[in-house]
Amino acid sequence: MTAAEHAASGWLQSAANAECRERVWKLGLLTGLKCEDDGTYAPANFERALVLDRLIQLRQPRRILEIGTGRGLGCLSIAASARSHGVSVEITTLDLSPPDLRIRWPIEIDGTRQVLDASRREVWGRHIDPALTAVVREVAGLTTRTLPALVAEGRPFDLIFIDAGHDLYSVVHDLAYSTKLLAPGGAVLMDDFAPLEEFGLGTCVVAPQARRFFGKVEIFATEGLVFGGAVQPEAPRGMVLLTEPIAQDVSVSRARLLAWRVAEFVLRLCHAPQFFPLRTTRP
Ligand SMILES: C[S@@+](CC[C@H](N)C(=O)[O-])C[C@H]1O[C@@H](n2cnc3c(N)ncnc32)[C@H](O)[C@@H]1O
Repeated sequence: MTAAEHAASGWLQSAANAECRERVWKLGLLTGLKCEDDGTYAPANFERALVLDRLIQLRQPRRILEIGTGRGLGCLSIAASARSHGVSVEITTLDLSPPDLRIRWPIEIDGTRQVLDASRREVWGRHIDPALTAVVREVAGLTTRTLPALVAEGRPFDLIFIDAGHDLYSVVHDLAYSTKLLAPGGAVLMDDFAPLEEFGLGTCVVAPQARRFFGKVEIFATEGLVFGGAVQPEAPRGMVLLTEPIAQDVSVSRARLLAWRVAEFVLRLCHAPQFFPLRTTRP
């Protein structure tokens, strides 16, 4: 199992099987397309669904938590992968946005690309197979409320996909609670390892911390490798896979989380041009 998981990193480039790629592509057009300011459409890291598919196939997780529902590519592709691989799953997905909130929604329907003003409930209800949505439980609210509530429920998860707030505090908070919520032998997948982007700061900072709590930390590029659409093709964004959790009984310190709130404020300045000690001398 572990050796095979290692292969997940190099596996994307050699491409998933055609059925999986087709399944992800179709769901991606409905739930993961992006539309740039100039009106061009592109897949937004649909590759995350290929990685999730691989993890479902290899690990056969039953209880799955997604942190950050977005428009649903993550949780719906997990449901579709589970069906394809014959795995029975219960998916809980968390988002600050409730299912009825209308948002800007780039989408391709019957070959026509357009931007809708629509909610998850509307798009899922019209375009997604009800057998997929049936295994997804949506929970609305900030993770600072919903994750402690899940801990209080005492329900562990076999696979946790962290993909909500990408600011430093949110990533630290969500990883700390995910580690607490993880079942023995479970795995955490984090999206958006992106050292060249400001929003990548959180995942880059927590990856070394995660090494103290997980026996294996794998970082691999994903964005655009199969479906195209990378923002920086020469340095594509990646994901972090944490496996072999070391400690069985961890607790989250609220006092230390508060310290990270302060740290976030200070560390954000590292991206502010006016604080960088380099100036251009213009002729
Ligand atoms: C990148 S999208 C998630 C994409 C989704 N995981 C997928 O694979 O399609 C991030 C989502 O996280 C939600 N989010 C951001 N910060 C959050 C927070 N603090 N608590 C809960 N949800 C949050 C946003 O509303 C957004 O819908």
